[in-house]
Amino acid sequence: MIKIKLEELKKEHIPSIMEIESVSFGKYHWTEKSFLTEIDNKLSNYYVYKDETGKVISYCGFWNILGEGHITTFAVREGYKRNKIAEQMMLYIIEKAKALDIKWFTLEVRASNLPAINFYTKYGFETSGIREKYYQDNNEDALIMWTPDIQSDKFNVLIANNRKNIEALN
Ligand SMILES: CC(C)(COP(=O)(O)OP(=O)(O)OC[C@H]1O[C@@H](n2cnc3c(N)ncnc32)[C@H](O)[C@@H]1OP(=O)(O)O)[C@@H](O)C(=O)NCCC(=O)NCCS
Repeated sequence: MIKIKLEELKKEHIPSIMEIESVSFGKYHWTEKSFLTEIDNKLSNYYVYKDETGKVISYCGFWNILGEGHITTFAVREGYKRNKIAEQMMLYIIEKAKALDIKWFTLEVRASNLPAINFYTKYGFETSGIREKYYQDNNEDALIMWTPDIQSDKFNVLIANNRKNIEALN
């Protein structure tokens, strides 16, 4: 398994992120300007993982809105998927969020995005509603997903179990 070390998003990461964005999210992906804005956004917490050559392999981010962690993006470069990179990033941001006293995570995900839905479900997210025709490119619905209280025993048992399984792969 590829063991990862995250760093905070910086301007220098953005060109590589754009390579991943266009492949991961299609025509309506975020622009360089969107990421630049996030660097200056006080609510933002964005992280990047680079491989040993310095190539950006993945990134994710969330906004801390009054104690709710709104996950805005999560992506892994083609060719590096299914290596537990997203899971390790999730474990990292959960710890960051707890330290910020965040109570829940939420996000929107395309209703057809089964890899992502499976991933979030594995980390305790449940569907609480649907935003109809949320995505402009194909009018696809978004599922609105929420975790339980991330400080709760129920959530912590799930996360400890997932962490143990990841550590067992090393
Ligand atoms: C979703 C995504 C971030 C997962 O990244 P990843 O590093 O490949 O995922 P991991 O290896 O950590 O897998 C974690 C879990 O995700 C789920 N998963 C990941 N890829 C999957 C796939 N192709 N099919 C089904 N489930 C999948 C599984 O539950 C997996 O756990 P398992 O290995 O025990 O089955 C990645 O597929 C991606 O970048 N997708 C494009 C961008 C995107 O859709 N982001 C989400 C926007 S809301």
